[in-house]
Amino acid sequence: MLIVPARLNRNSPDVQQMAPPADTGLWLIEYMCERIGIANLTGLDVLDLGCGVRFADAIVNRAIALNSYVGIEVEREIVDFLTDNCTDPRLSFVHFDVRHSIYNPGGRKLRDDTVLPVNQNMFDVICMFSVITHQIPEDARALLTVLRRHVRDSGRLFFSATVEEGDFGYREMFPETPTANSVYTLALLTQIVEAAGWRILSVAGQHPRGIPIQDSILCEPALCRPA
Ligand SMILES: C[S@@+](CC[C@H](N)C(=O)[O-])C[C@H]1O[C@@H](n2cnc3c(N)ncnc32)[C@H](O)[C@@H]1O
Repeated sequence: MLIVPARLNRNSPDVQQMAPPADTGLWLIEYMCERIGIANLTGLDVLDLGCGVRFADAIVNRAIALNSYVGIEVEREIVDFLTDNCTDPRLSFVHFDVRHSIYNPGGRKLRDDTVLPVNQNMFDVICMFSVITHQIPEDARALLTVLRRHVRDSGRLFFSATVEEGDFGYREMFPETPTANSVYTLALLTQIVEAAGWRILSVAGQHPRGIPIQDSILCEPALCRPA
């Protein structure tokens, strides 16, 4: 059992009210597998950037099969809690000290050449749930570029984002609180994803079968990756 204090949960209040985080986490992992076209994560190495606490809760408390799971976070308190309290040897947690205006204002600027603190490790599945939803375009591009260096050739990237039709490219839903909800057009997001060395395989709209996820995008590594 992993008992996570509610104060560490970063999901929106409506998602928290829907079901225990371990359950919404399980639904999201199952949905991601469905989109990738695999039955489950058995035997796979998973990297979860902006992990929060939910997937660790789901993996441990809903007995999700996988080979390994690395959760990366800018919030040190989350990493410290999970490192100290999660005894499942398949899971590990890493602090990524990059700047985020809400979650980690004191971090260093994220750049395309920022090194992810996971050594040279490579992963089969890389995911970001409700993370690009909170990034300015420059940081979204840097994150996608940094992650590209850690995917196996046969691997997949799955992430959610707030996507709207229009020709605005990028806007903040709440301009007074930048990155509280960063909104993209699919055209700009596609440009950013491709510039970072990924190829989009599929795009799906928000809330499939009532599952609490924004629009979601499945990618594979493009053959040529940026230096
Ligand atoms: C809305 S929460 C989602 C947490 C988790 N993915 C989930 O679905 O339950 C967004 C998380 O992303 C983290 N985050 C934001 N920018 C990040 C970055 N550049 N690197 C790592 N974590 C980041 C935040 O600290 C926060 O915990």
